[in-house]
Amino acid sequence: MHFKQFIVIICLLTTTAVFAGSLTSDDDIYKIVNKLTLEQKARLLVGTVGVNDELSHIVAGAAGWTYPINSLGIPSINLADGPVGLRIDPVSTEIAKTEYDTNGLPIAGTSKTAKQEKLNYCTCFPSTTALAATWNKSLAHLQGEVMGTEAKDYGIDIILTPGINIIRNPLCGRNFEYYSEDPYLTGKMASELIKGIQQQGIGTSLKHFVANNQQTGKKYNDARISQRALREIYLKGFEICVKESHPWTVMGSYNKIAGEFTQTNKQLLIELLRNEWGFDGMVLTDWTVRRPISGLINARCALNMPGEKDIVDGIIKAVKNKEVTEKALNDCVHDVLKVVLNSVTAHGWKYSTPDLKANAIASQDVAEESMVLLKNNEKLLPINTNSKIALYGTSAYQSIAGGTGSSNVNKAYIVDISTGLENDGYKIDGKLKDIYKDYNGIQNKLLDTNADIPDWQKISYHRHVIPEIDLSKADYTIQQSATNNDLAVIVIGRGSGETSDRQLEDDLNLSRAEKTMIEKVSQTFHDQNKKVIVILNICGVIETASWRDKADAILIAWLPGQECGHAVSAVLSGKTNPSGRLPITFPIHYIDIPSSKNYPYLGQTSGRNFDYTEYQEDIWVGYRFFSTSKVPVSYPFGFGLSYTTFDYSNAKIKKIQGGYEISVDVTNNGSRSGKEVIQVYVSAPNNAMIHPEVELKAFGKTNLLKPNETQTVKLRFTNYDIASFDEVNSQWLLDKGIYNIIIGRSSDEAITKLSFKITKPQVWKVKNLLAPVKLVNKLTF
Ligand code: BGC
Repeated sequence: MHFKQFIVIICLLTTTAVFAGSLTSDDDIYKIVNKLTLEQKARLLVGTVGVNDELSHIVAGAAGWTYPINSLGIPSINLADGPVGLRIDPVSTEIAKTEYDTNGLPIAGTSKTAKQEKLNYCTCFPSTTALAATWNKSLAHLQGEVMGTEAKDYGIDIILTPGINIIRNPLCGRNFEYYSEDPYLTGKMASELIKGIQQQGIGTSLKHFVANNQQTGKKYNDARISQRALREIYLKGFEICVKESHPWTVMGSYNKIAGEFTQTNKQLLIELLRNEWGFDGMVLTDWTVRRPISGLINARCALNMPGEKDIVDGIIKAVKNKEVTEKALNDCVHDVLKVVLNSVTAHGWKYSTPDLKANAIASQDVAEESMVLLKNNEKLLPINTNSKIALYGTSAYQSIAGGTGSSNVNKAYIVDISTGLENDGYKIDGKLKDIYKDYNGIQNKLLDTNADIPDWQKISYHRHVIPEIDLSKADYTIQQSATNNDLAVIVIGRGSGETSDRQLEDDLNLSRAEKTMIEKVSQTFHDQNKKVIVILNICGVIETASWRDKADAILIAWLPGQECGHAVSAVLSGKTNPSGRLPITFPIHYIDIPSSKNYPYLGQTSGRNFDYTEYQEDIWVGYRFFSTSKVPVSYPFGFGLSYTTFDYSNAKIKKIQGGYEISVDVTNNGSRSGKEVIQVYVSAPNNAMIHPEVELKAFGKTNLLKPNETQTVKLRFTNYDIASFDEVNSQWLLDKGIYNIIIGRSSDEAITKLSFKITKPQVWKVKNLLAPVKLVNKLTF
């Protein structure tokens, strides 16, 4: 415990005159716990909804509050989403304000409401998948710092982020909130985000623990996963974050694991999370769905969110009926108090205005660095800023900054791609612009279910993704646009959200109108010897194999946050050299993905894949499957081009204490400055267990290297990092044999290879936990 927190607790106790004595550690929190009545303990375990003048302060639009016990000086704290920026409402609002004493502690009974006149807009960062595509840990840290600062300024104590579920199947509606199909990339990037936030004194919530990999049926689905796949793929990112960045809280997912709801699952929350990994924070429920209260408390899932009064009664009853032990109850109360007493609220928070301009620059930095150049024939890109552009696609004029649901951020504005290009000097074809603006305007009116909502909602949660215009009869217009402009830029837009999964047709696969647009525009421009660039303003995987030959250049912009258009323009113009790499595989066909055999269909309401899902693909998720099976892909994991080229030399491996260090010299041997991502894959020997052809075990990014500049990059992994989970013997096993190290341009392309030999196996024994209820026909090689 920090000294300041220690003082706060002492003051808390002395000022309320309820408790006295010196406080030192967790034990001291237990001393407070022991003095609370059963009613007070129960109250602390249940959040509170809505405006309540007992609350220390209220931030409109926060996802929830903990309950205060003002008589004891225990304030309520605010919890708000989410992954890509704070989700609060930018409204003038009545806020309850408590007076603070000279120690910064709330004075009981001083709570009163005051009008907050400021509009609390927040900075919208690119989607989480985009952040992962930067492969830049410092940027994840920076994003965390900005989010943490905004939280502190606005009075949010816990940000409900990061979401680190594995992108198992491209149809999951929440994939855009998640990092990658790879647990190592996920864990390392999310750890940095957590550190950046928590360094500001703001807590985080690692979610959704665990296996929230589908939206359809998520509330009751039993995710049947082998112990090996669970440990190596689905839990690994959580393990990395818990051990490396110590998130204050972990949010239990809705689904079941090993036949038991995650939130009441003692094996998951006590044996694994606390006893094995050493987590010492608070576990809270995901919102709204209720699980049996005694099960929650006994599994030390402490905070029920958003909370209802009858849950408090349920806790009191469960204690009286001895369905929960006094110890289990006290542990939960301790966990809540620990977070509350560490919060900025408990430290005398005061409103201040964040530097939204500076924060927007940080968001744009992440966006630019996340963009992945998939194709660039004849070095078409970058293009001169005085080019005349025929700009096609509804999302070019109403661009998609982010996904919907709890990841929505109420930002002050979105820079559309058309605006970003124009701001940099590009000349956008006026006729096309008029057509698209009119069309989007009409569509917005048609799609508006609530026309009276305020403007800030229209550009955030209620912003529509406009279906594409049917250009099948627009030959003359396309022809004219080809004659009048230097080139065509086509934008394909795809959003997604928390409320549902995506679908195969008109979503993962392009709609007929989109195919027609690509077909006709590229044909007409190519006939006139003019080039076509496709920009993908997308939430995640879409089908690319059938149309990619028609484009001369393809750039993935993802959902790039509020500075969307500026970031796209910076990359198109070459102001920024693209350095993003795919954190997910783009397959040729959806059915090539092994999990496609075990994924619900949109609208499904019961049965297999809804009530339970068998993860038959086992550990063969994403590139682990494609690299081993040799099934071809459209674009592999880790792939991404640059406007310059890099040479790798002097690659070495050296044994260090408990692991290995790889070092390699990376030289920019092209003609533009740029950053390179260094990807280190391990290929483990197939002795006792079969391993994927390659597995990412280290990565890094160079600084911005000038032409001819060289940087020596050093990357490390531990023996434990490269061990596999032997479920028969419940142990992590580093088997003996030759380990090949591949420094790759992607999971598919080796640049240089190294190797080392393990002569004596090493094991890490663990408890036999979380075996699936039933799992048949596991995919094997
Ligand atoms: C989501 C969480 C979110 C919570 C609070 C739930 O519906 O699953 O990710 O943090 O709502 O908004």
